[in-house]
Amino acid sequence: MAVFNEGKLKFKFKEFDVNKMIDTVAANFELRVKNKNGVLITQKLAEKPIINGDEVHITNVIFNLLDNAVKYSNDSPEIKITTENRKGELLISVQDKGIGISKEHHSQIFDRFYRVPTGNIHNVKGFGLGLSYVKKIIDSHNAKIKVESVINKGTKFTILFPQINN
Ligand SMILES: Nc1ncnc2c1ncn2[C@@H]1O[C@H](COP(=O)(O)OP(=O)(O)OP(=O)(O)O)[C@@H](O)[C@H]1O
Ligand SMILES: [Mg+2]
Repeated sequence: MAVFNEGKLKFKFKEFDVNKMIDTVAANFELRVKNKNGVLITQKLAEKPIINGDEVHITNVIFNLLDNAVKYSNDSPEIKITTENRKGELLISVQDKGIGISKEHHSQIFDRFYRVPTGNIHNVKGFGLGLSYVKKIIDSHNAKIKVESVINKGTKFTILFPQINN
């Protein structure tokens, strides 16, 4: 983050296939979910799965969202990663059935060091940096990120990239 803020972060943009990236990420993350008796499902619906971006940073972004999905699910996390094309955009979403985030916090969770207040006990560790990194990377790609969430039902983060038509 410090490197990023000083403007020293280097991006290596190239065209890559997000469906393939999702397979790699899921393979690397599966053990973490299984250790918590959870399930991780991938649903690769995108027929035009190519974006122009920095594959390392976008991979980190998906890891951050998955890390949160596990951390903020009480037990046996159920996580789904979906890709799809819609209205000239390529969407990647990460959905969980965890504790949820009430609406009043949605605008702040992408701020640096912001964590949803839980009273005295923070039984889940973190710095409140993951989503601010995510937001910076998404902004650098001219992409968008949206959050939909219901308390005690779960959370869905959706990233929308401009679609490449080849
Ligand atoms: N999937 C989720 N379900 C419920 N709450 C979430 C979810 N993702 C993020 N949050 C809330 O948003 C806050 C900010 O998330 P962020 O990833 O930036 O920080 P963190 O997970 O607390 O720490 P770090 O990512 O630095 O380890 C979290 O502290 C949590 O309150
Ligand atoms: Mg986090």
